Parts: sequence; C-alpha cells; structure tokens
Amino acid sequence: MLGRLKPIEPPAGDAAHRLRRTLGWPHLVALGVGAIVGTGILTLTGVGAALAGPGVILSFLIAGTVCAAAALCYAELATMIPQSGSAYTYAYSAIGERVAWVVGWSLILEYSVVCSTVAVGWSGYFAGFMAGIGHPLPTAIIAGPAAGGVVNLPAVAIIAVVAGLLLVGTRESATLNVVLVALKIAALAMFVAVALPAFDVGHFRPLMPYGFFQHAGPDGTKRGVMAAASIIFFAFYGFDAVSTAAEEARDPKRDLTIGIVGSMLACVAIYVAVAASAIGAVAPSAFADSAEPLALVLRTLNAPRAAAIFGAVAVVALPTVILAFLFGQTRIFFVMARDRLLPPALGRVSARSGVPVAVTIGTAAIVAAIAAFLPLAEIAALANAGTLCAFVAVGASLLVLRRRDPDRARPFRAPAAPLVGGVAVIGCCYLFLNLPAATQLRFVVWNAIGLAVYLGYSRRAARAAS
Ligand code: ALA
Repeated sequence: MLGRLKPIEPPAGDAAHRLRRTLGWPHLVALGVGAIVGTGILTLTGVGAALAGPGVILSFLIAGTVCAAAALCYAELATMIPQSGSAYTYAYSAIGERVAWVVGWSLILEYSVVCSTVAVGWSGYFAGFMAGIGHPLPTAIIAGPAAGGVVNLPAVAIIAVVAGLLLVGTRESATLNVVLVALKIAALAMFVAVALPAFDVGHFRPLMPYGFFQHAGPDGTKRGVMAAASIIFFAFYGFDAVSTAAEEARDPKRDLTIGIVGSMLACVAIYVAVAASAIGAVAPSAFADSAEPLALVLRTLNAPRAAAIFGAVAVVALPTVILAFLFGQTRIFFVMARDRLLPPALGRVSARSGVPVAVTIGTAAIVAAIAAFLPLAEIAALANAGTLCAFVAVGASLLVLRRRDPDRARPFRAPAAPLVGGVAVIGCCYLFLNLPAATQLRFVVWNAIGLAVYLGYSRRAARAAS
C-alpha cells in the first residue's frame, strides 16, 4: 500500500488557512514565463554548447518535449484538482500519502535550490554590471568559498528583496512580475533581432561533434546531446509554479490551463529562436562555458550597447524566477502543513495580507544561506533532480487517475494521454539517469532524511488530525 489518498475536492478550511483568489490568467502566464525564463537560457546555453556543440539545439528540443508533456499533465491535473500543492497534491490524490510525501519533500528541495541557484546566477550578472559602471566588488563578498570568495552577499540581498515583495501581498507582487517579464521578453527579442541577420548555417556543421548519447570524453567530462539535455532541462521548468497558485486563481479552470500551457509553449518558442540565432550568429565554441553567453554573442557581433542593455535587463528581471519559486515554496509548505504532514504553524496565513508570513521569512533565510555559500553548478543539478522526481509523479498521477476515475470532469484533457503521460514519466527518468552520480546520491540522502521525518513525525501527526 502506498498510503492514504487525499480527496480530490478542495478542503473547506478556516479563514486562517485559506488563500485569496486574486490572480487572473495574465498574472498566471506571467508567473509561468517569469519562472521559466532565467538562468537556464541566459547562462546554461553556454554550458550546453560546451557539452553538445551546435547539437545543443537538439538538447533544447528534447528537454522541451519532455517538459511540454509534463506541462500537459500538469494542466489536466491542476484544473481537475484545483488545490494548492502542485505535484504533491496530485500524487496524494492519485497514488497515496507515502509517494506524496516523497514528492513534497523533493519539491521543497527543488523550489529552495532553484531560488538559491538563480540568486547566485543573478549575483554574477550584478557583479558584471557593477564592474561595467566602474565599481567592481571584491571577490570575497560576491562568491562562496568554492568560487574563491567568502560569502555571496548580492545573492543573499536579492533573496531578501524578493521575500519582502512577497510579504507585501501576492497580487501586488504578481503585478510587478508582469512588468519585469515583459522587460525580459523584450531583451530576448532584441537579442534575436540583433543576432538573426548574422545567421550562418555553416555554424551548425558538424551538428553533433560529441555524439548523441552521453559518454565520457578523454578529460572525464560526460558530453553529448543527452548530457546537455539533462542540464538544459533547468531552463524549461517553472510552469509548474503556476499550479501551486491553484487556490489563488480567480477562474481556476480557464486561468490555470492558459497559465500552464501558454507559458510553456511561449518559452519553447522563445528558447529555440534564441538558441538557433545564437548558434547561427557565432560558432558555439566561442561562447561555450561563458558566464554570460548571450551578452558575449552580442559583443562578438559588435553590438556593445545591446550587450549592456541585455546585462542590465538580466539584473532587473532575473529575480522574477526567484519570486515564482519562493512563492511556490511557501505554498508547498502551506499545503503540507494543512495536511498535517508538517507542523500547522507552517501553514498559517496573515489575516491582514493573506500571506503565509512566518514560512516566507523562514524559507527565505534557508534559501539565502544556501546561496551564500554553495557552488552554482551543484545546486542547479540538485534542483533538476527534485524537479524530475515531481514530474515523474505528475505523469504517473495522470495515468492512474485516467484509469481509476475516468468519468470525473476534466476541464482540460491532455491529448493522447497514455503517450503524453508515458513521455513525461520515461523522459524524466532518463534525464535523471543522465545527471551526475554525486547529484543522484545527494538526492537519495535528502529523501532518506525525509523518510525519517515522515516515519518519526508526519505519518502519526496526519493520522491524529484526520
Ligand atoms: N527555468 C528557470 C531558469 O532557467 C528555473 O532559471
């Protein structure tokens, strides 16, 4: 047995444990795009190019296809089960409490380390920006120990600012998010407009200099289109953060469908356009492994002003990713606490603002501590592991509920459900196998700790409350 099932109907709840319905679909699309477009396209494009050469465009398509399948599963489940909690809630209703716990615990890992990763990436852009205006910052305060510094203070500061925004209230932060997302899209459109006229199809030959399947080269680095795909995966997720806002959507059925599927499709189109024009304009070996590959492409094309604008927009708009994931994180805690798998104090919302204040501050503190000291690449890979676990659960939940509860109303039905669910489950498992072994081990250790918490506290507490 995989544990108790949670009813699909939303809980009535009391006022102190209820979120307010303040978000329309434009907010949700912006929340999705704001969460998706970030460190992945801005910096990991270079990492991917180093691992796959021009074939990184295939890595984008593969990771994008797996994420699109997962997005369709999310859209069906989010509209069918319009409750906060995302993959955790779906797994609880479809498979059972034990699997839901593993998914919830993995989501806590994903949402936390994505915030930390993007904060560290932002800090790099911020440091570049300060250096560009003649005020370079000392390495000791802009990097953690693994990167030659002591503490990454800009990363801590940006997390504090975003947490402050969330405390002001969901609606206010979502409106600001719309503006920042528009800026980010405008910067990427400018990138394509500058890079596309320099398109040279010769840069795509040979397409796969390191082959398709992951394999270790002479230097021990695992390369190939699939190795790059398991990293590029980071660039695509974030649409799942929309589903964590299910109880705050004004018209969940319409708004969630447009929010999840719309933001995902928009991002696949934007990424393929950006990656193709980057490779077409400059041979990928020239920007592989750069800390700011897209700005480098613009500078190589002799467009320094466009490069400066691009960097400035990254500094201003990258925090939308942190906003969406910090928002999602607090909602996961909120729902797990409401289910009594975590202490109820973690699920209390302020009567004045409708925001879970204590949990927002606590989460921000932990996320900031990770960002202050840990290296970027390792926390990014760990975020991917947590996300892949959640996506597998969502694909499986879709397949289970189609079989067990075929007649229940589904405002949005994923097309070709067995195929879409299968691609999500198998694709995510395969990408997980392509992650570094150290990441897989850390993920197992994290879940072993989770299991101890579950057996020592959560299982009993949830039973006692029901
Ligand atoms: N997709 C998000 C990013 O690339 C996590 O930053």
